[in-house]
Amino acid sequence: MARESFQHVIDSHTTLFGVIGDPIRHSKSPIMMNRAFCETGVNGVYTAFHITDQTLPAFIAGVRAMNIRGVNVTIPHKLQVMELLDHIDEGAAALGAVNTVVNDNGILTGYNTDGIGYVRSLKEEAIASLAGKRIVVIGAGGAARGIIYALLQEQPAQITVVNRTVDKAEQLAAALGGYAKNGAAVLDARSTDSLQALCGEAELVINTTSVGMFPNVDASPLDASWLQPGAVASDLIYNPLQTKFLLDAKQRGCITHGGLGMFINQGAYAFEYWTGKPAPVAAMREIVLASLQA
Ligand code: ATR
Repeated sequence: MARESFQHVIDSHTTLFGVIGDPIRHSKSPIMMNRAFCETGVNGVYTAFHITDQTLPAFIAGVRAMNIRGVNVTIPHKLQVMELLDHIDEGAAALGAVNTVVNDNGILTGYNTDGIGYVRSLKEEAIASLAGKRIVVIGAGGAARGIIYALLQEQPAQITVVNRTVDKAEQLAAALGGYAKNGAAVLDARSTDSLQALCGEAELVINTTSVGMFPNVDASPLDASWLQPGAVASDLIYNPLQTKFLLDAKQRGCITHGGLGMFINQGAYAFEYWTGKPAPVAAMREIVLASLQA
């Protein structure tokens, strides 16, 4: 469909939104969010701002001054922005990272929609319920933290964090272990040596590391023969859309889940927090996919 079809009139009532980061010019959020506004008839406009550590406080003052309704926050500001806001949602506080700011007439609240966006995408695309499942998470960085917090709300039987540097996995497990809903899940940490044995028992294996990301597309965090056929293999990477890990897992007979859905759904939650309307997820996915394949 022609791009013009999705343009709407920007007038004196238009509400402002944006994404901040350093760097930021690679971001797909503006095309995704503007499409969402057009699709739902929201009179909003969303742009990308290149904000540095030095200009972050002035930017947040500008959000208040101009009544910018919503901001997405990406690297490197997810932590530093927290001290400039009025309220931090419980999930974002637990993670120590904010990726979405909602401005209610000058009162700024920080949320984190990365983990819940991931879980929504996983449940829609690959596995309807995570209750009672055994899950392996490879990697112990910021991305792993976000998704583990959200996975713990889903009452899995067990989540094991496997990391090259086992200390980091142990720290993560210690920090988030208390957030299991109803105390149902066990969260523990292992070194990469245990990965093969753990994969043999897992219903869901998630790669949160950068192994396999463009341009290193021939790398994979594990040997797919370790996976149980029928298990779900999930990768947070969306460039490429199908990593070597996922291609190999598919051959092995696994259900695969790529990283694009997490990006779309973290944006969908942000859209819903800002507008109170259901996000037009299919349209958002369509325009991001087209842009990635252009
Ligand atoms: P993010 O915030 O995106 O999660 P990060 O904090 O840099 O990024 O974390 C990257 C994760 O990928 C870490 O768990 C890292 O392992 P280490 O803690 O041992 O550094 C993991 N990782 C990155 N490159 C890797 C590689 N080549 N092999 C194995 N693990 C790797």
